[in-house]
Amino acid sequence: MFALDDTGSGDSLASVLASPLLRRETVEVVAGPTQRTLPGHGFTGPLDFALIDGPHGFPFAHLEYYYLYQHLAPDAVLVLDDVHIRNVNDLFRFVRADAMFELLEVVHTTAFFRRTDAPTFSAVQDGWWEQRYNLRVWPPLAGLSPGGTLRAMVPLRVKERLRAWRRGYVPIESRPRDR
Ligand SMILES: C[S@@+](CC[C@H](N)C(=O)[O-])C[C@H]1O[C@@H](n2cnc3c(N)ncnc32)[C@H](O)[C@@H]1O
Repeated sequence: MFALDDTGSGDSLASVLASPLLRRETVEVVAGPTQRTLPGHGFTGPLDFALIDGPHGFPFAHLEYYYLYQHLAPDAVLVLDDVHIRNVNDLFRFVRADAMFELLEVVHTTAFFRRTDAPTFSAVQDGWWEQRYNLRVWPPLAGLSPGGTLRAMVPLRVKERLRAWRRGYVPIESRPRDR
């Protein structure tokens, strides 16, 4: 469990640790801001469950997602809380579209996902063009000129086909068959 040590300013961690519902011997507490503790943490095995419900300011839930998604085992459950907060909702939309996750249910403002058996997206390379969320053309992207908005709304696959067509490439299925 990654949590702030709020002794002095609150008792969130202390009350969880004191709860009779907690099997204390099964829990390792990593105290401190997750922005600092998660990057340095050495996970010793795959995770079957992760709940993201710590700091909610941008980009902290995203940061936590980064350090957790790469360790989730197939069929692991990922829970994203407070998806009514706009930046957390951005993350929710990303995860909902991603091949690595299947949305199981949203209960009030908490989303439950199952890790699929899709390969783990590289945590150190790029590959944005392979992420389903980035192939979405709706809703339109903010901050672009009208021309840029229109261009962004052409699906990536269509753009690639147009580029290939301009270069004179003929897709295999359109080539005349050899006799
Ligand atoms: C919305 S509460 C949720 C707590 C718990 N998951 C629950 O449902 O009762 C958010 C928790 O994140 C903790 N938190 C806030 N900022 C944090 C940070 N930077 N690193 C780790 N925990 C943090 C707070 O102390 C608080 O306990």
